[in-house]
Parts: sequence; C-alpha cells; structure tokens
Amino acid sequence: MKKPLLCLAASLLAVSFAHAKDGATLYKEKTCIACHGKDAKTPIQPNYPKIAGQNADYALQQMKDIKSGARNNGQSAAMKGVMHLVNDEEMKILADWLSKLK
Ligand code: HEC
Repeated sequence: MKKPLLCLAASLLAVSFAHAKDGATLYKEKTCIACHGKDAKTPIQPNYPKIAGQNADYALQQMKDIKSGARNNGQSAAMKGVMHLVNDEEMKILADWLSKLK
C-alpha cells in the first residue's frame, strides 16, 4: 500500500524540480492573464489575440520575437513591456501549456 504512494510523491517531486512552475501558474504570475484573459481566449481588448490552442512552436517564436523587438507590429509594444518577466524556459512552458488549451 505504501510503495505506490511513495513512487507518486517521488515523481511529483521530480516534476516540480524539472520545472519550477507550470504553465497555468506562470500564465497568472507573469501577468499574461491580464491581457489575454483567464482562458487565453477572452482578451481584454478586441484587437488582442486569442492564444488558447495556438501551435506551441509558433507561440514560442512570437513570444521571443515580441520580447526581442523583432516583432514590432500592431499592439506588440503592449506585451513587450512584460516580457522581461519570462526567460526562455518559461516561454517554452507557456507555449506548450497554451497549445494544449481548448
Ligand atoms: C499588456 C498586455 C499583454 C500582456 C501582459 C501579455 N500579452 Fe501577449 N500579446 C498582447 C498583444 C496586444 C499581442 C498582439 C501583438 C500584436 O498586435 O502584434 C500579444 C501577442 C501574443 C502572442 C502571439 C499571438 C499570435 O497569434 O501571434 C502570444 C503567444 C502571447 N501574446 C502570449 C503571451 C504570454 C505567454 C504572456 C505572459 C508572459 C503575454 N502574452 C502577456 C498583449 C499582452
């Protein structure tokens, strides 16, 4: 009875060490939620994009480009202001998480 529980605890620990935070937590803590909405498809402005279910590679590249300034169109300046809050690993976690939302 005890062994499976221990294994579960060990694997949960392993996961939390591998990734400090999960996508849902990052999405809230890094302020993404403030503009893109709690489900990532009800943005606060009609001209802000819905990002739930977006292709992970594409989303990651857009985040990197908005952060670096390579993408500087439309409303991207609004988002650039918060991108110092996320590093490459966190952007990847966010992109993967977003891609799995319905
Ligand atoms: C201040 C508002 C704001 C915040 C905060 C914000 N975004 Fe954005 N985001 C935008 C806007 C506006 C765009 C569209 C930019 C444009 O018009 O080019 C965008 C674009 C994107 C895109 C590209 C969408 C596409 O279809 O090309 C992704 C992915 C994205 N945001 C993810 C995030 C993530 C993840 C976070 C949190 C780290 C975040 N955003 C924080 C406003 C914001």
